[in-house]
Amino acid sequence: MADKHSRLDGPLCTAHRQAMADIRNIVVLTGAGISAESGIDTFRSAGGLWEQHRVEDVATPEAFARDPDLVLRFYDMRRANIQKAYPNAAHDALARLDQYWQGNLLIVTQNVDDLHERAGAERLIHMHGEHLSAWCLSCDGRTRWHAPLSDRPACPHCGEAALRPDIVWFGEMPYRMDEIDRAIGQCDLFVSIGTSGAVYPAAGYVRTARHYGARTLELNLDPSQGSIMFHECRMGRATDLVPAWVDEMLTHQAERL
Ligand code: OAD
Repeated sequence: MADKHSRLDGPLCTAHRQAMADIRNIVVLTGAGISAESGIDTFRSAGGLWEQHRVEDVATPEAFARDPDLVLRFYDMRRANIQKAYPNAAHDALARLDQYWQGNLLIVTQNVDDLHERAGAERLIHMHGEHLSAWCLSCDGRTRWHAPLSDRPACPHCGEAALRPDIVWFGEMPYRMDEIDRAIGQCDLFVSIGTSGAVYPAAGYVRTARHYGARTLELNLDPSQGSIMFHECRMGRATDLVPAWVDEMLTHQAERL
C-alpha cells in the first residue's frame, strides 16, 4: 500500500502491481537529485548552483561570447568536482537494472557527470552533454577531456585553441532527441528520478509517455513541478528509493520467467 510518503492514483494497488508486472520497455529520466548524495550540487535547491550563479552568466552561448574566462572557469571547477565524486547506491541500482533487464531500457540523464557510466550503465544518453567531453568550435571535433579548459589548450584534432565544454547551454538543442522521443513513444513505463521538472524538453516527457499509454512513476525527494502528471510518486532519497524500485522490477521479471 502507498504510505504517507507516496501517492498512488488509480483504483487499486493490486491493479498497479499487475501493471508493473506487465512492463517490458522502460525509459528512466534522471536529474541532479540522483547525484546529490554523491556530493554533487543540484541546481534549484537552497544553496544550489543557480543560487550561487546566474544562468545568464555561465550557461548560455551569449555568456560564453561575453566572458569566456568566467564560463570556462565555472565548468573547470565543476569538472574537477565530479572527478572527486563516486557513484552512489542509486547509480549502482540503475546499472544493475541495465545489466539484468531483458526488455528495452533507456536511461536518459540530464546530468553532465559520469556517475551512471562509472557505475556500469551502458544504455545511457546524456541529453545535456558531458563534463568530460570538450567540443572544438573550429573543427567540430569532440575529445574526451579531464583537464581545465580555461588555459585554452589546443584541440587534439586541429590544433586550434577553440575548445568549449560539451554542455548543452540554455538556448541550445539537447542531444539525441530523436532516439529519446522514439524510446518514450514505445515504453510501457516512464520513471523520473531526482529532477525538479523545471527544464524542457525533459519536463514534458511524462506527458508524452502518458499520451502513448505508458505507466509513469516519480522518485524524488520532494514533489516536482510535474508530480501531478505521474500515476505514482514516491518521495524520499534516491539511494533508498531507486534500489528498492529496481529490486521490485527485477523480481517481477524473475516471476515472469
Ligand atoms: P534541479 O536542481 O532542478 O532538481 C533536483 C531535484 O532533485 C529536486 O526536485 C530535488 O527535490 C531532488 N533531489 C535532491 N536531492 C535528492 C535526493 N537525495 N534524492 C532524490 N531526489 C533529490 O536539477 P534538474 O532537475 O536535474 O540543465 O535540473 C534540470 C536541468 O536544469 C539541468 O540538467 C541543468 C539545469 O539548468 C542545463 O544546464 C542545460
